[in-house]
Amino acid sequence: MKIAVISPSRSSMQEMARCLGAASHSVVLAEGGKSRMRGMAEQEQPDLMIVEGMCCDVNELDQVEYVTTHFPGVAVVLLCSTNTPEFLIRSMRAGVREVLPSPASPAALDAAVQRIASKLAVPHGRSPGKILAFMPCKGGCGATFLATNFGYQLAASKSVLLIDLNLQFGDALSFLHDGKAPVTIADVARDISRLDSSFLAAAAVRVTPNFSILAAPDDPSAAMEVKPEHIEAILKQAVMQYDFVVLDMARTLDPLTIKALDRAYRIFPVLQAGLPHLRNASRLLAVFRSLDYSTEKIELLVNRFERSGDIGVDAIQRSLGAHRLHTVPNSYKDVNASINHGSALVQTARSNAVARNLAELVTTLSPRVEDGQGVLGRLFRRA
Ligand SMILES: Nc1ncnc2c1ncn2[C@@H]1O[C@H](COP(=O)(O)OP(=O)(O)O)[C@@H](O)[C@H]1O
Ligand SMILES: [Mg+2]
Repeated sequence: MKIAVISPSRSSMQEMARCLGAASHSVVLAEGGKSRMRGMAEQEQPDLMIVEGMCCDVNELDQVEYVTTHFPGVAVVLLCSTNTPEFLIRSMRAGVREVLPSPASPAALDAAVQRIASKLAVPHGRSPGKILAFMPCKGGCGATFLATNFGYQLAASKSVLLIDLNLQFGDALSFLHDGKAPVTIADVARDISRLDSSFLAAAAVRVTPNFSILAAPDDPSAAMEVKPEHIEAILKQAVMQYDFVVLDMARTLDPLTIKALDRAYRIFPVLQAGLPHLRNASRLLAVFRSLDYSTEKIELLVNRFERSGDIGVDAIQRSLGAHRLHTVPNSYKDVNASINHGSALVQTARSNAVARNLAELVTTLSPRVEDGQGVLGRLFRRA
């Protein structure tokens, strides 16, 4: 791993560098405090940043949060000589992975680094994020509702960027946020030569610390400026920065859409259990076959499903073939209340069956790792 160490104490920094270097990590050092974090993240793009000397003052966490938000690929560990429960909780909210007592013993440091390395999965740099595309089979089937709320729930444990690829009439942001996006995907396309991690993070609207949305332009004609090569570049950058990139797709199959679908890890065609939906889904699946997409790449989402309906799961599967199929219940009142409120369903109706159902879908894509410890236990590990 590439590890950046920031500390006001040169001797402590050199001691850590010796210990980390002995474990074959590449280490860069910066003498100073948290104000060095942003510059180090930009210039060095480390996998891990260890920052010593921040203690108790929750106001200091703003600069930490800037880094965890704009550089989701950088894990941050703080070393503090004293702290309070409030500081620990605020650290967690700011996206800090662990808070260790300072000075950290070589054993404690090594153990923390190993825990983080094991989560990074790939020892030399982070593995690219996965692209999940939500594709409506028919207008109004609920693709945007599912993409936004699924993304929101997934972001409880992963970093997620949702990109609204409904370029002309995209409304994804309004499902979770009230207010307009100051910058949209059309602005990013216009300035594509500037695209890097900071530019992408700044262009997206931050809905929660771990979840951002790159919105569609307000003006439908601006959509014409977005070309397939822009999408290619944005997706390439996005997977380097986020664990998951959720795409809210338009119901069109043009070169731009196909470019995005080609890169997807999973495509979720969204339909309802009705004949017009099944007919469209069947056409869409035929196109996917002609594009040589594997059966596993496609998982059907049957939205607003009711067991008492005319068309059951067996009939859908007979008509659409051997894809994984996931049904989402119908819940008109709560779903509409959440959309009208511009808030995620888990926020407005935590125990709603649709929210619980989406939590299950999240688990199939990103199984939870239980370590049997509470939040404070995970954050504050004693040497
Ligand atoms: N699971 C659900 N239960 C009840 N109503 C739903 C559900 N999912 C979506 N809807 C309704 O469908 C409408 C259209 O959803 P939307 O996500 O905009 O569709 P699409 O993006 O496919 O055009 C929403 O405004 C909401 O009223
Ligand atoms: Mg939509």
